Amino acid sequence: MSTIDKIKELKRERNAVILAHYYVEDEVQAIADYVGDSFYLSKIAAKEQADVICFCGVSFMGESAKILSPQKTVIMPDMQADCPMAHMADIEKIQKLREEYEDLAVVCYINSTAELKTYSDVCVTSSNALKIVRKLPNQHIYFIPDENLGRYVASQVPEKEFIFNDGFCHVHKDIAAEHIKQARQAHPHAQVLVHPECTPDVAEMADYIGSTSGIIDYATASEAQEFIICTEVGVLYELQQKNPGKRFYPAGHQQFCPNMKLVTLEKVADALEQMTNTVEMDEQVRLLANKPLERMLELGR
Ligand code: 13P
Ligand code: SF4
Repeated sequence: MSTIDKIKELKRERNAVILAHYYVEDEVQAIADYVGDSFYLSKIAAKEQADVICFCGVSFMGESAKILSPQKTVIMPDMQADCPMAHMADIEKIQKLREEYEDLAVVCYINSTAELKTYSDVCVTSSNALKIVRKLPNQHIYFIPDENLGRYVASQVPEKEFIFNDGFCHVHKDIAAEHIKQARQAHPHAQVLVHPECTPDVAEMADYIGSTSGIIDYATASEAQEFIICTEVGVLYELQQKNPGKRFYPAGHQQFCPNMKLVTLEKVADALEQMTNTVEMDEQVRLLANKPLERMLELGR
């Protein structure tokens, strides 16, 4: 039996669905029931009726699915697949800033550990951060953990005061303005599509800034035929599926998330067969982390 047939059979047996982020390998995206950005996948995880969610992504995604759907069994094909940025904020600093600013809102990118979420007021993803921050009554915003997304949101919401944290995504941070210049020289008619985890100098060169879904939707709706893509290369699969006639060029450097690429078809089959890679969480932590996530779903609607 092929690995794909094995996955299909195990999915039926377990009453399982497969969720995959755009950054995992093409063949994993191809067998998933739902493929999307972090916001879309969290909405699916919250309302999906299956008994088992197999989350093809990194650990903060599996954790968020478990927080939103505690009655379900959430499994991960590779328990080592983790996002380094999810850990890049300091709880003591959050507590100190809360003492300093009475009206502080701690806005936590969903790319964060469950523990960090328990200290936060609201979660955001790259596709809903602007909308949610604008809706908050608070004047002071402490944006964790990603500095670049925080700075992008601040540039679009000048009426609020931001405090930044120094977390970053190494995949996006390593895309340099010089790479875009060279890609533009090689493809002068291409539009530059940038994920907001990129640095401000790269964002300045963009024709469009948005989440992975935003980039895919923009390219699909655009009259342009060529695009320079400034995010992880996994999005090229969906871009090409939806736009077989258009051309997509990575900005030049290795835009490759090693953690997302740990997820393979074989590991999906093994996880569904063994059912041992389950996401577990202390109920007290889950309840506290659920608040900012639920608030995100409410404000992001
Ligand atoms: P989005 O899915 O919100 O575009 O975020 C990208 C990302 O870095 C996920 O790890
Ligand atoms: Fe984390 Fe960046 Fe990988 Fe996304 S692409 S999981 S933010 S390291």
